[in-house]
Amino acid sequence: MSARVLLLPGDGIGPEVVAEARKLLEALRRDHGLEVVLEEGLIGGAAVDAEGVPLPGRTLEQARAADAVLLGAVGGPRYEELPRELRPERGLLGIRAALGLFANLRPAILYPQLAGASTLRPEVVAGLDILIVRELTGGIYFGQPRGIHRLENGEREGYNTLRYRESEIERIARVAFEAARRRRHRLCSVDKANVLEVSELWREVVSRVHAEYPDVVLSHMYVDNAAMQLVRAPKQFDVLVTTNLFGDILSDEAAMLTGSIGMLPSASLDERGKGLYEPIHGSAPDLAGQGRANPLATILSVAMLLRYSLDQEPLAARVEAAVGRVLDQGLRTADIAAAGQPPCTTREMGDAVVAALA
Ligand code: IPM
Ligand code: MG
Repeated sequence: MSARVLLLPGDGIGPEVVAEARKLLEALRRDHGLEVVLEEGLIGGAAVDAEGVPLPGRTLEQARAADAVLLGAVGGPRYEELPRELRPERGLLGIRAALGLFANLRPAILYPQLAGASTLRPEVVAGLDILIVRELTGGIYFGQPRGIHRLENGEREGYNTLRYRESEIERIARVAFEAARRRRHRLCSVDKANVLEVSELWREVVSRVHAEYPDVVLSHMYVDNAAMQLVRAPKQFDVLVTTNLFGDILSDEAAMLTGSIGMLPSASLDERGKGLYEPIHGSAPDLAGQGRANPLATILSVAMLLRYSLDQEPLAARVEAAVGRVLDQGLRTADIAAAGQPPCTTREMGDAVVAALA
Protein backbone atom coordinates (compact mmCIF):
# COMPACT_ATOMS: atom_id res chain seq x y z
CA MET A 1 0.00 0.00 0.00
CA SER A 2 1.22 3.48 -0.86
CA ALA A 3 2.21 5.79 1.95
CA ARG A 4 0.36 9.10 2.12
CA VAL A 5 2.46 12.21 2.58
CA LEU A 6 0.85 15.59 3.13
CA LEU A 7 2.83 18.62 1.96
CA LEU A 8 2.12 21.90 3.76
CA PRO A 9 4.20 24.57 2.01
CA GLY A 10 3.01 27.47 4.20
CA ASP A 11 4.57 30.90 3.92
CA GLY A 12 7.69 32.82 2.89
CA ILE A 13 10.30 30.49 1.45
CA GLY A 14 8.17 27.48 2.49
CA PRO A 15 6.61 26.93 -0.97
CA GLU A 16 10.01 27.18 -2.70
CA VAL A 17 11.76 24.65 -0.50
CA VAL A 18 8.78 22.27 -0.39
CA ALA A 19 8.68 22.32 -4.22
CA GLU A 20 12.21 20.87 -4.17
CA ALA A 21 11.17 18.23 -1.63
CA ARG A 22 8.24 17.28 -3.85
CA LYS A 23 10.59 16.91 -6.80
CA LEU A 24 12.79 14.64 -4.72
CA LEU A 25 9.88 12.47 -3.54
CA GLU A 26 8.62 12.18 -7.12
CA ALA A 27 12.09 11.10 -8.27
CA LEU A 28 12.20 8.47 -5.51
CA ARG A 29 8.80 7.23 -6.66
CA ARG A 30 9.80 7.18 -10.33
CA ASP A 31 13.27 5.66 -10.04
CA HIS A 32 13.67 4.04 -6.64
CA GLY A 33 10.45 2.19 -5.92
CA LEU A 34 9.03 4.49 -3.25
CA GLU A 35 5.29 3.96 -3.11
CA VAL A 36 3.92 7.29 -2.08
CA VAL A 37 0.88 9.47 -2.71
CA LEU A 38 1.45 13.20 -2.31
CA GLU A 39 -1.21 15.64 -1.24
CA GLU A 40 -1.04 19.33 -0.48
CA GLY A 41 -2.75 21.44 2.17
CA LEU A 42 -2.95 24.89 3.69
CA ILE A 43 -1.39 26.16 6.90
CA GLY A 44 -0.19 29.44 8.39
CA GLY A 45 -0.59 32.73 6.58
CA ALA A 46 -1.45 30.93 3.34
CA ALA A 47 -4.43 29.38 5.14
CA VAL A 48 -5.40 32.72 6.68
CA ASP A 49 -5.44 34.26 3.20
CA ALA A 50 -7.47 31.44 1.66
CA GLU A 51 -9.78 30.45 4.51
CA GLY A 52 -9.46 33.02 7.27
CA VAL A 53 -7.81 30.71 9.82
CA PRO A 54 -4.21 29.46 10.21
CA LEU A 55 -5.21 25.80 10.66
CA PRO A 56 -8.36 24.88 8.69
CA GLY A 57 -10.25 21.78 9.81
CA ARG A 58 -9.64 20.26 6.39
CA THR A 59 -5.86 20.47 6.92
CA LEU A 60 -6.16 18.62 10.22
CA GLU A 61 -8.26 15.93 8.54
CA GLN A 62 -5.67 15.57 5.79
CA ALA A 63 -2.88 15.39 8.38
CA ARG A 64 -4.71 12.75 10.42
CA ALA A 65 -5.24 10.63 7.32
CA ALA A 66 -1.61 10.94 6.19
CA ASP A 67 1.28 8.73 7.27
CA ALA A 68 3.55 11.76 7.50
CA VAL A 69 3.45 15.53 7.02
CA LEU A 70 6.14 17.70 5.48
CA LEU A 71 5.88 21.36 6.39
CA GLY A 72 7.75 24.32 4.85
CA ALA A 73 7.43 27.27 7.20
CA VAL A 74 4.82 29.64 8.60
CA GLY A 75 4.71 33.34 9.36
CA GLY A 76 5.57 36.69 7.89
CA PRO A 77 5.40 40.41 8.56
CA ARG A 78 2.01 40.69 6.83
CA TYR A 79 0.41 38.66 9.60
CA GLU A 80 2.05 40.17 12.66
CA GLU A 81 -0.79 42.58 13.36
CA LEU A 82 -3.45 39.84 13.42
CA PRO A 83 -4.99 38.85 16.75
CA ARG A 84 -2.96 36.06 18.39
CA GLU A 85 -5.50 33.34 17.54
CA LEU A 86 -5.18 34.07 13.82
CA ARG A 87 -1.42 34.32 13.58
CA PRO A 88 0.34 31.78 11.37
CA GLU A 89 2.33 30.42 14.35
CA ARG A 90 -0.97 29.26 15.88
CA GLY A 91 -1.34 26.95 12.90
CA LEU A 92 1.95 25.29 13.71
CA LEU A 93 1.32 25.10 17.46
CA GLY A 94 -2.22 23.86 16.75
CA ILE A 95 -1.15 21.00 14.49
CA ARG A 96 1.56 19.93 16.96
CA ALA A 97 -1.00 19.79 19.76
CA ALA A 98 -3.81 18.24 17.73
CA LEU A 99 -1.60 15.42 16.45
CA GLY A 100 0.10 14.88 19.82
CA LEU A 101 3.57 15.50 18.36
CA PHE A 102 5.33 15.67 21.71
CA ALA A 103 8.83 14.62 20.65
CA ASN A 104 10.80 17.06 18.57
CA LEU A 105 14.13 15.77 17.26
CA ARG A 106 16.54 18.45 16.05
CA PRO A 107 19.89 17.17 14.89
CA ALA A 108 22.74 19.67 14.51
CA ILE A 109 25.34 18.11 12.27
CA LEU A 110 28.31 19.92 10.80
CA TYR A 111 29.03 18.74 7.29
CA PRO A 112 32.81 18.60 6.89
CA GLN A 113 32.42 20.42 3.56
CA LEU A 114 30.93 23.39 5.45
CA ALA A 115 33.37 23.62 8.37
CA GLY A 116 34.35 27.11 7.19
CA ALA A 117 30.75 28.35 7.30
CA SER A 118 30.52 28.28 11.11
CA THR A 119 31.30 31.45 13.02
CA LEU A 120 33.17 29.27 15.53
CA ARG A 121 36.74 28.11 14.97
CA PRO A 122 36.88 24.91 12.87
CA GLU A 123 38.57 22.89 15.64
CA VAL A 124 35.69 23.72 18.03
CA VAL A 125 32.99 22.45 15.65
CA ALA A 126 34.69 19.92 13.33
CA GLY A 127 32.80 16.63 13.52
CA LEU A 128 29.93 18.13 15.50
CA ASP A 129 26.93 15.79 15.74
CA ILE A 130 24.36 16.73 18.39
CA LEU A 131 20.73 15.72 18.74
CA ILE A 132 18.38 17.99 20.66
CA VAL A 133 15.23 16.27 21.88
CA ARG A 134 12.74 19.00 22.69
CA GLU A 135 9.40 18.43 24.44
CA LEU A 136 6.89 19.98 22.04
CA THR A 137 3.31 19.86 23.32
CA GLY A 138 3.65 20.99 26.92
CA GLY A 139 5.45 23.42 29.15
CA ILE A 140 5.00 27.17 29.05
CA TYR A 141 3.87 27.10 25.41
CA PHE A 142 0.60 25.45 26.37
CA GLY A 143 0.27 25.85 30.16
CA GLN A 144 -2.91 27.31 31.64
CA PRO A 145 -3.70 29.82 32.98
CA ARG A 146 -2.29 32.34 30.55
CA GLY A 147 -3.24 35.78 29.42
CA ILE A 148 -2.99 39.51 29.95
CA HIS A 149 -5.28 41.00 32.58
CA ARG A 150 -5.76 44.31 34.29
CA LEU A 151 -4.78 44.75 37.91
CA GLU A 152 -6.73 46.80 40.43
CA ASN A 153 -4.41 49.75 39.99
CA GLY A 154 -5.21 49.77 36.25
CA GLU A 155 -1.84 48.40 35.19
CA ARG A 156 -1.85 45.35 32.90
CA GLU A 157 -0.06 42.11 33.77
CA GLY A 158 0.89 39.29 31.40
CA TYR A 159 1.30 35.73 32.66
CA ASN A 160 2.02 32.22 31.41
CA THR A 161 2.31 28.96 33.28
CA LEU A 162 5.08 26.39 33.17
CA ARG A 163 3.76 22.94 34.03
CA TYR A 164 4.96 19.41 33.38
CA ARG A 165 3.33 16.20 34.55
CA GLU A 166 5.43 13.18 35.42
CA SER A 167 3.95 11.26 32.48
CA GLU A 168 4.96 14.02 30.04
CA ILE A 169 8.51 14.09 31.38
CA GLU A 170 8.73 10.32 31.35
CA ARG A 171 7.72 9.87 27.72
CA ILE A 172 10.09 12.53 26.37
CA ALA A 173 12.90 11.11 28.53
CA ARG A 174 12.30 7.67 27.00
CA VAL A 175 12.52 9.08 23.47
CA ALA A 176 15.83 10.73 24.41
CA PHE A 177 17.29 7.63 26.08
CA GLU A 178 16.30 5.50 23.08
CA ALA A 179 17.96 7.99 20.73
CA ALA A 180 21.12 8.04 22.87
CA ARG A 181 21.18 4.26 22.70
CA ARG A 182 21.31 4.41 18.89
CA ARG A 183 24.11 7.02 19.06
CA ARG A 184 27.01 7.52 21.45
CA HIS A 185 25.14 6.59 24.64
CA ARG A 186 25.34 9.98 26.33
CA LEU A 187 22.36 12.04 27.41
CA CYS A 188 22.40 15.49 28.99
CA SER A 189 19.14 16.72 30.50
CA VAL A 190 18.83 20.50 30.58
CA ASP A 191 16.73 22.26 33.23
CA LYS A 192 16.68 25.12 35.73
CA ALA A 193 16.39 22.99 38.86
CA ASN A 194 18.25 25.54 40.97
CA VAL A 195 15.27 27.89 40.65
CA LEU A 196 12.15 26.11 39.34
CA GLU A 197 10.10 23.41 41.08
CA VAL A 198 8.99 22.00 37.75
CA SER A 199 12.65 21.54 36.83
CA GLU A 200 13.23 19.76 40.13
CA LEU A 201 10.52 17.28 39.18
CA TRP A 202 11.92 17.06 35.62
CA ARG A 203 15.35 16.12 36.97
CA GLU A 204 13.91 13.56 39.37
CA VAL A 205 11.79 11.86 36.70
CA VAL A 206 14.59 11.79 34.09
CA SER A 207 16.88 10.20 36.70
CA ARG A 208 14.20 7.62 37.51
CA VAL A 209 13.77 6.66 33.82
CA HIS A 210 17.55 6.36 33.61
CA ALA A 211 17.32 3.17 35.66
CA GLU A 212 15.84 1.50 32.56
CA TYR A 213 18.81 2.63 30.46
CA PRO A 214 21.93 1.78 32.47
CA ASP A 215 23.99 1.66 29.25
CA VAL A 216 23.40 5.40 28.72
CA VAL A 217 25.47 7.92 30.69
CA LEU A 218 23.14 10.63 32.04
CA SER A 219 24.17 14.10 33.11
CA HIS A 220 22.16 17.17 34.15
CA MET A 221 22.94 20.77 33.30
CA TYR A 222 21.33 24.11 34.08
CA VAL A 223 20.10 25.83 30.95
CA ASP A 224 22.29 28.92 31.32
CA ASN A 225 25.37 26.73 31.55
CA ALA A 226 24.16 24.59 28.63
CA ALA A 227 23.81 27.72 26.48
CA MET A 228 27.39 28.61 27.35
CA GLN A 229 28.80 25.09 26.91
CA LEU A 230 27.19 24.84 23.47
CA VAL A 231 29.44 27.60 22.15
CA ARG A 232 32.43 26.83 24.41
CA ALA A 233 32.81 23.10 23.78
CA PRO A 234 29.83 21.77 21.80
CA LYS A 235 31.41 18.41 21.04
CA GLN A 236 30.97 17.32 24.67
CA PHE A 237 27.30 16.71 23.81
CA ASP A 238 25.66 13.71 22.19
CA VAL A 239 21.90 13.91 22.96
CA LEU A 240 20.30 16.80 24.88
CA VAL A 241 16.77 16.55 26.27
CA THR A 242 14.85 19.55 27.49
CA THR A 243 11.56 21.43 27.79
CA ASN A 244 9.64 23.16 25.03
CA LEU A 245 10.94 26.70 25.63
CA PHE A 246 14.54 25.80 26.50
CA GLY A 247 14.62 23.51 23.46
CA ASP A 248 13.34 26.27 21.20
CA ILE A 249 16.20 28.51 22.26
CA LEU A 250 19.00 25.94 22.44
CA SER A 251 18.12 24.43 19.06
CA ASP A 252 18.57 27.78 17.29
CA GLU A 253 21.88 28.17 19.08
CA ALA A 254 22.99 24.66 18.11
CA ALA A 255 21.93 25.30 14.52
CA MET A 256 24.29 28.22 14.21
CA LEU A 257 27.22 26.06 15.31
CA THR A 258 26.84 24.27 12.00
CA GLY A 259 27.21 27.45 9.96
CA SER A 260 23.75 27.69 8.51
CA ILE A 261 20.29 27.20 9.86
CA GLY A 262 19.47 26.41 6.21
CA MET A 263 20.91 22.91 6.60
CA LEU A 264 18.97 21.54 9.55
CA PRO A 265 15.92 19.28 9.44
CA SER A 266 13.61 18.27 12.26
CA ALA A 267 11.06 15.63 13.13
CA SER A 268 8.11 15.96 15.49
CA LEU A 269 6.74 12.57 16.47
CA ASP A 270 3.72 11.22 18.29
CA GLU A 271 3.56 8.14 20.51
CA ARG A 272 3.46 5.82 17.51
CA GLY A 273 6.19 7.45 15.44
CA LYS A 274 3.88 9.26 13.08
CA GLY A 275 5.35 12.62 12.41
CA LEU A 276 5.57 16.08 11.02
CA TYR A 277 8.86 17.04 9.42
CA GLU A 278 10.12 20.54 8.83
CA PRO A 279 13.26 22.54 8.24
CA ILE A 280 14.01 24.51 11.38
CA HIS A 281 14.82 27.76 9.55
CA GLY A 282 11.39 29.36 9.39
CA SER A 283 9.78 31.44 6.65
CA ALA A 284 12.63 33.95 6.02
CA PRO A 285 10.33 36.58 4.45
CA ASP A 286 13.33 38.65 3.30
CA LEU A 287 14.38 35.79 0.99
CA ALA A 288 10.95 34.71 -0.21
CA GLY A 289 10.23 34.52 -3.92
CA GLN A 290 13.82 35.08 -5.01
CA GLY A 291 14.94 31.49 -5.54
CA ARG A 292 17.79 32.01 -3.08
CA ALA A 293 16.64 29.82 -0.19
CA ASN A 294 18.56 26.69 0.72
CA PRO A 295 16.31 23.64 0.17
CA LEU A 296 18.68 21.22 1.90
CA ALA A 297 17.07 21.45 5.36
CA THR A 298 13.75 20.44 3.77
CA ILE A 299 15.40 17.74 1.68
CA LEU A 300 17.07 16.39 4.83
CA SER A 301 13.65 16.54 6.52
CA VAL A 302 12.42 14.22 3.76
CA ALA A 303 15.24 11.85 4.73
CA MET A 304 14.03 11.89 8.35
CA LEU A 305 10.46 11.32 7.14
CA LEU A 306 11.56 8.30 5.13
CA ARG A 307 13.46 6.94 8.12
CA TYR A 308 11.04 7.52 11.00
CA SER A 309 7.55 7.44 9.48
CA LEU A 310 7.84 5.36 6.28
CA ASP A 311 10.44 2.89 7.55
CA GLN A 312 12.58 3.40 4.42
CA GLU A 313 16.06 3.56 5.93
CA PRO A 314 17.89 2.72 2.68
CA LEU A 315 16.16 5.57 0.84
CA ALA A 316 16.80 7.95 3.75
CA ALA A 317 20.49 7.09 3.62
CA ARG A 318 20.44 7.56 -0.15
CA VAL A 319 19.04 11.08 0.17
CA GLU A 320 21.61 12.00 2.82
CA ALA A 321 24.41 10.62 0.67
CA ALA A 322 23.15 12.64 -2.29
CA VAL A 323 23.28 15.82 -0.19
CA GLY A 324 26.87 14.98 0.77
CA ARG A 325 27.77 14.46 -2.87
CA VAL A 326 26.27 17.77 -3.94
CA LEU A 327 28.25 19.56 -1.22
CA ASP A 328 31.39 17.73 -2.41
CA GLN A 329 30.71 19.06 -5.91
CA GLY A 330 30.93 22.56 -4.42
CA LEU A 331 27.34 23.63 -5.00
CA ARG A 332 26.30 26.31 -2.49
CA THR A 333 23.19 28.41 -1.95
CA ALA A 334 23.81 31.97 -0.73
CA ASP A 335 23.61 31.09 2.98
CA ILE A 336 26.51 28.61 2.77
CA ALA A 337 28.55 30.10 -0.09
CA ALA A 338 32.07 31.28 0.67
CA ALA A 339 32.79 34.98 0.19
CA GLY A 340 33.08 35.72 -3.52
CA GLN A 341 31.59 32.39 -4.62
CA PRO A 342 28.56 32.77 -6.93
CA PRO A 343 25.64 31.03 -5.19
CA CYS A 344 23.31 28.57 -6.90
CA THR A 345 19.52 28.88 -6.83
CA THR A 346 17.03 26.89 -4.78
CA ARG A 347 16.02 24.95 -7.87
CA GLU A 348 19.58 24.22 -9.01
CA MET A 349 20.33 22.78 -5.58
CA GLY A 350 17.18 20.61 -5.67
CA ASP A 351 17.98 19.37 -9.19
CA ALA A 352 21.55 18.52 -8.17
CA VAL A 353 20.34 16.41 -5.24
CA VAL A 354 17.92 14.53 -7.51
CA ALA A 355 20.74 13.93 -10.00
CA ALA A 356 23.02 12.71 -7.21
CA LEU A 357 20.48 10.08 -6.07
CA ALA A 358 21.56 7.69 -8.80
C1 IPM B 1 10.28 26.57 16.17
C2 IPM B 1 9.64 27.92 16.01
C3 IPM B 1 8.23 27.86 16.61
C4 IPM B 1 8.36 27.54 18.09
C5 IPM B 1 7.39 29.13 16.40
C6 IPM B 1 7.30 29.51 14.94
C7 IPM B 1 6.02 29.01 17.00
O1 IPM B 1 10.43 28.89 16.60
O2 IPM B 1 9.73 25.59 15.63
O3 IPM B 1 11.32 26.49 16.83
O4 IPM B 1 8.59 28.43 18.91
O5 IPM B 1 8.25 26.36 18.42
MG1 MG C 1 12.30 28.20 17.28
